[in-house]
Formats: sequence, C-alpha cells, structure tokens
Amino acid sequence: MSVTKSLEARYYIDSDIYAAEMAGLFARTWQFGCHASEIPQTGDYVTFEIAGESLFAIRGRDGEVRVFYNVCQHRAHELAQGKGTTRVVVCPYHAWTYELTGELRAGPNIKSVPGFDRATVCLTEVRCEDFNGFLFVNLDAQAAPMEEWYPGVRGELAEYVPQIQDLAPLEWVEIDEKCNWKVSVENYSECYHCSLNHPTFASGVVKPETYDISKAGGYVLKHTTECQAVEQMSYPIDMSVPHAGEYRSFFLWPMFSFQVYPGNLLNTYHWRPGGVGDCTVWRGWFSVGGEEDAVVRQMAVQDRETTVEEDIHLVESVQRGLGSRGYVPGPLVVDPGCGVNSEHSIKALQQWMREAVDGV
Ligand code: FES
Ligand SMILES: [Fe+2]
Repeated sequence: MSVTKSLEARYYIDSDIYAAEMAGLFARTWQFGCHASEIPQTGDYVTFEIAGESLFAIRGRDGEVRVFYNVCQHRAHELAQGKGTTRVVVCPYHAWTYELTGELRAGPNIKSVPGFDRATVCLTEVRCEDFNGFLFVNLDAQAAPMEEWYPGVRGELAEYVPQIQDLAPLEWVEIDEKCNWKVSVENYSECYHCSLNHPTFASGVVKPETYDISKAGGYVLKHTTECQAVEQMSYPIDMSVPHAGEYRSFFLWPMFSFQVYPGNLLNTYHWRPGGVGDCTVWRGWFSVGGEEDAVVRQMAVQDRETTVEEDIHLVESVQRGLGSRGYVPGPLVVDPGCGVNSEHSIKALQQWMREAVDGV
C-alpha cells in the first residue's frame, strides 16, 4: 500500500483555487448563518455573509425563519444592515416594501404602471435549516438536506447536550488567522499536534491517549475522547448528567463544528474565509437563555488564552511554509489503528478538499 501525501501547496495559496471554492464549494454546502435565539420575535432580522453574498434571516408572522439574498428586486439596493426588528422590509432607495415572506407589498407609484403585476416580484429565498437551534443556509437550491450530509448528528448532539434547545450565545470570540481556511480546518481536525502544543487542553480537559477522530457517515468527522480525571479537570462538572464525562465534537464539512466539552458544555467553531491567505475563526459559547454563566465564561477565556492562541501560531507558520519553494508535501501519518497520533482524519478531509476543487 502506498502512503498518502498531504495536499499540494497550491490548494492553499493559489487565488484561482480560492475563487473556485467561493463560487463552488461555499455556495453548495451548508454554512452556519446565525442562532435562532438572535431573532426570537416576529420581524427580527440579522444579516450575514456567505460565499461573498450578503443575506438576511428574518422571522415571519408564522414563526418561521426565512433567509433571503439582501437585495431589492427593483434596482438592487441592499435591504437590511446589521440586525433589528421591522414590520415590513423597506428598501432605503425608493421605499419598495416587502412582506416578511418576501412578497412585494407596495411601492410608490407602482400602481400607475400598466401591466405591473406585484405578484411576480419576490425576494430571492435561500435554503435554510434549523439544526437544534442553529440556522444553516445553503445557496444551492438543489442541495440535499442536512440529515443526508450529516446523518444522525442532530439526534446524537441533542443526547450530549440535553439543554440544547434552550441555549443561546453567551459570547462570540472572533479570531483572525493569516492562513487559508483549510489550514485552520485541518489543524482543528487532528490531535497529532496536541500533546506538544496544547498542554492545558491535554492535561486539564481531555485525556489525549483516548482521543480519536473518525469519519462518521456523510461529511462528518467525529472527535471522541474521555475527560481528565475529575480532580484534574480545570472546571467543575456534574457527573450525574448522562455523557457528562465525555468529550464529543462533530465537525460538519466544510466549516462548522459542534464541540461538547465534559460537563455537557456546548461550544462551536465556524470559519469564514476572508481571502486565499486569511480566515476568521468564530468560537461560540452558549448558556441556557444566554444568561451569565461563570463556568462558560471561564472556559471561553481559558480556551482563547491557551488552545486558540497556541493554534494561531501553528496555522500561520504553516501558511508561510506552504509558500516556500522548499516544501514538498510529506506523507500523512495514517495509522491503520487510528488513535491520537494518526492523521486519517486529514486524509479524509483533504480528499473532500481535492474533490471540491477538482471534482475527483
Ligand atoms: S432599489 Fe429598492 S426600491 Fe428601488
Ligand atoms: Fe490545535
């Protein structure tokens, strides 16, 4: 059997490949938009950007959240900015108004236009799915539902985080990294580097020798490990709750991860590419109702100061290295027995990365 070589450097540094990913991969996959608790009431909206497109999510009178391209169907002015609440969507340019369902409701003087049929004008809607309160969008109208992409994850996640439907963001931590998004996602998806680079995580949160990352069904990488002996944990946990002593993480290709720390503590990663050599990593920390929670705050700070900080240096160094003429992609350490010191997850990930660009 031949060894698998790491992905060639051009995938991380060539702006044509990045442009192909923007037009293809990012526009055809499920991407995190916002959390349902950010728009709890009728007319609440929030804007965000996916694959270079400005979008907004808005809650309708029927309680449903719909996501639209943020563009007026008259002469293309943007409709919404930031977040807020509204009764109808009003375009700032000529005051056309739209229902919360996207239908055109009125516009100054439009009735005077012979043959103008209001019913033919509607905002362009985008596919949206609620995944345990997390709203994901897919710009591809033909995309398979999330259950096909990530089979079983919705249910399993709810078992690990029984309070998930009541959670709301307590804190978002934004981290800029000067590297291609794939460098950051790969770094997230292996723990071969953990013992050397993440002493706090490896000694105070998880038991690295039990760490494994496996390709679950669909486009999921599942991280499993046991937590440290309770007396060594860096925060208190209630072991009476099922799964409290476990760590699970569900990475949903290409740019999102649900991470459950021991103690049923949910936090998330999502990545936003900013250019071929730039990306932003968002860490989401959640509590019931978004209420103050000292343990969650402490974890957010500890994570930002340790694991995240340690990873920034790693990924930025890798990005510089990928630009070196001296780099020849090395063999991946794919241990048939898997385990913490194996890069089988990187093999799976790089195969998806290659397919996204080359189609094979
Ligand atoms: S562009 Fe929106 S009303 Fe004219
Ligand atoms: Fe790391």
